[in-house]
Amino acid sequence: SDKYAVIGNPIGHTKSPLIHGQFAQSTAQDLVYTAIEGPLDGFAAAVDAFRAAGGLGMNITTPFKLDAFRYATDLTERARRAGAVNAMKFEGERAYADNFDGVGLVRDIVHNMGCPLQGQRVLVLGAGGAVRGALLPFMEQHPARLVLANRTLEKARALAATIAGPITACSYAELAGQQFDMVVNATSASLRAELPPVPASVFSQAHLAYELAYGKGLTPFLRLAQNAGVAQLADGVGMLAEQAAEAFAWWRGVRPETRAVIEKLTIPLL
Ligand code: ATR
Repeated sequence: SDKYAVIGNPIGHTKSPLIHGQFAQSTAQDLVYTAIEGPLDGFAAAVDAFRAAGGLGMNITTPFKLDAFRYATDLTERARRAGAVNAMKFEGERAYADNFDGVGLVRDIVHNMGCPLQGQRVLVLGAGGAVRGALLPFMEQHPARLVLANRTLEKARALAATIAGPITACSYAELAGQQFDMVVNATSASLRAELPPVPASVFSQAHLAYELAYGKGLTPFLRLAQNAGVAQLADGVGMLAEQAAEAFAWWRGVRPETRAVIEKLTIPLL
């Protein structure tokens, strides 16, 4: 069988072997997909060892996305812009690298949730790595405007300046009185059950609230959106499945259906 793996640290909670195992089954591809806990100071050696043993491709998760960026011999435009790599494909000496997180998010919103981004007023909370990777795929959908709000305003300003189009940065306080159609929480606040200081008024005309974290149930952000009457609530499980499907298609030349995997991994947001 052809060999693939996800590498991270810690790696115990990863859903990737389950997802890719299901994809392989549903597309009748003969492959094995394992999880590797990479040493914090030994990413390159661990990848080299996997390649030496015949490994053909890898997913890269925390904290190695920047190490993979440095390791790669060939980067796609969006991986370069994201400054991070979440998938690699090995061919001889080459290590081709891409980042499917942003396209996975866009595909989940547009395709799975049926919410076109075109013409929409979109608010994105946060200005870290997750947002950096999502900006280009978001702007390619031609939203009416995209506002980046961040605690550290300077980081949002710097990110907004990297891309052309109707994109602006602001502080959380400046959001008071502004209206949006969609609100995406790309901060890491939910991982600690915290709430970014977003005024509830941003939800008053919104139809979608999207939480990038997954498996956390109804986070404080989603609860605030629900209480404000937002009709569609989602966490990042669909994004996880869609970025996996993109990587799988890149490696194997066949794009798997994601619906069954998403249903299996979804925890009801109650
Ligand atoms: P990631 O790669 O997951 O985006 P990161 O680069 O560490 O992680 O970025 C985390 C983001 O969450 C940042 O935008 C951070 O805001 P600052 O840039 O101001 O630090 C944001 N964040 C984390 N905890 C937060 C909280 N409790 N409230 C608001 N924003 C928070």
